[in-house]
Amino acid sequence: MLATLRVSSRRVATRSLHTSPVAPRAAFRKFSTIPPPPPKASSNTAIYIGLGLAAVGGAGYFFLNSGTDASREAGTAIKSAGQSIKAATPFVPSKEDYQKVYNRVAEILDADDYDDGSYGPLLVRLAWHCSGTYDKDSNTGGSNNATMRFAPESLHAANNGLVLARGIMETLHDEFPWISYGDLWTLAGVAAIQEMAGPKIPWRPGRIDGLEKNATPDGRLPDATQGQDHLRAIFYRMGFDDQEIVALAGAHALGRCHTDRSGFDGPWTFSPTTVTNAFYTLLLNEKWTWRKWSGPKQYEDKGSKSLMMLPSDMALVQDKKFAVWVKKYAADEELWFKDFSSAFARLLELGVPTSQFITAEPWEMKTIDEQSS
Ligand code: HEM
Repeated sequence: MLATLRVSSRRVATRSLHTSPVAPRAAFRKFSTIPPPPPKASSNTAIYIGLGLAAVGGAGYFFLNSGTDASREAGTAIKSAGQSIKAATPFVPSKEDYQKVYNRVAEILDADDYDDGSYGPLLVRLAWHCSGTYDKDSNTGGSNNATMRFAPESLHAANNGLVLARGIMETLHDEFPWISYGDLWTLAGVAAIQEMAGPKIPWRPGRIDGLEKNATPDGRLPDATQGQDHLRAIFYRMGFDDQEIVALAGAHALGRCHTDRSGFDGPWTFSPTTVTNAFYTLLLNEKWTWRKWSGPKQYEDKGSKSLMMLPSDMALVQDKKFAVWVKKYAADEELWFKDFSSAFARLLELGVPTSQFITAEPWEMKTIDEQSS
């Protein structure tokens, strides 16, 4: 896998057209248990400009709050405290630049020697875990600051295994140093869903790289050993309702549990690298019994004994209000695609001030297939 990444990373680095303020590092950074260091100020357009502005009199977030194209004009002269200072010329990425990042994510998804052959599910989990820390009451958490780069958030048990995803993302950040980590991680989740035959996920850039002090406390992500009350407490805190909880949970059509990460074991569906509504159909139609093993309590399907459900997944059919939506999504994949798309898009924007987005309307990123046809 390392070899694959190393080769493809070099290949595209040489044909990358962006003009970056930081030369891509030549050496491949191996995955490590140490979270990546905080990004250099010059690696993030928004912070880059913000720091320049701060230097001229504490107006650091003028750029982020104004959100106008004019304020992003390269080399804008800024008058403050009677002084005229020329801001450094930043690289201003276009939609095409973000599409290039999307395309690179799409290129590195396939990995024959990893799990079921794709990093897609892992990257969807990274996008969700960096966003799902949002708390609407305190307006903290979410993808805006990419705080999972910092310990202890990177080490929270719920994030076990995501060091691998962050390492993969780091190689892409080396190629595109201008993108913020929050934008990169969420865009990777969008690319993963779309390239695994899922619905289009509207997405737009504008997240900034925050500081360690923005890191969220443990316990904001759901605990798979628990039931409906816990799910409601966690997802209502983010601002979601029952229907959206069920719609989001359908992402468990993808990927698998790992004993060395969550302690649980196995995939939910027979097609863990394709976005389908199989999570709901299996949840309803299979007979699920407790697995007899020494690991944490989980269900297995009676038929093949090769699939699993978490106690929190089973809560979706045990709770009458949730079950209504499980049935709807099992019967109508198109409906689920539509509802998943809007809930996932909303999840990825939680906690990001609207003024930070560089476009009022989210974009539809093109799939690789669409670009080649
Ligand atoms: C409803 C509450 C949820 C709970 C309790 C939960 C729990 C878990 C657990 C325990 C794992 C296994 C991690 C591992 O061992 O590698 C997992 C994996 C995963 N989760 Fe969730 N999850 C929830 C919601 C979501 C949501 C909302 C999404 C996305 C929208 C999501 C996407 C995924 C994906 C794609 C994987 C597979 C990752 C891989 O294959 O590496 N989950 N989840």
